[in-house]
Amino acid sequence: MKKMTEKALLEAFAGESMAHMKYLIFSEIAEKEGMPNIARLFKAIAYAEQVHATNHARNLGLIKKTPDNLQTGIDGETYEVEEMYPVFNNTAKFQNEKGAEQSTHYALEAEKIHMKMYADAKNSAEKGKDIDIKEIYICPVCGFTHIGKPPEYCPVCGAHNSKFKKF
Ligand SMILES: [Fe+2]
Ligand SMILES: [Fe+2]
Repeated sequence: MKKMTEKALLEAFAGESMAHMKYLIFSEIAEKEGMPNIARLFKAIAYAEQVHATNHARNLGLIKKTPDNLQTGIDGETYEVEEMYPVFNNTAKFQNEKGAEQSTHYALEAEKIHMKMYADAKNSAEKGKDIDIKEIYICPVCGFTHIGKPPEYCPVCGAHNSKFKKF
């Protein structure tokens, strides 16, 4: 792909991805505020942005088969764990930004787990096999991720497991 077009598509992919995420978050807010139809509108348009992001990603060559996609996941999570979040967390500490210090700490702790989970999944996918797991639980406060029966309290933020979201 020609350089300028590639740059434009990458920017569009980033923008659509961010819009997708923002709209999902806004949808949850509207739901909590008792406006289910506005929540649904946000959700539907978030999906449209996902369609746009997918089309851009395909044209950029970002979409491959599962073992390679898992490697992309491993690479991303590893960068976040080893470089990005430790640096961001220290930046927040240095500038005494408590909220950012907490959100980067929460993300760092979960990404460590994600990195390992993707690595295990890749081992299996390379042999053409799906992984053999039951429920996956996510802490809605910090993003702590757990496969199987969860601990009673989140080891990262202390939230009770009755709040966890099951996948
Ligand atoms: Fe992650
Ligand atoms: Fe948590």
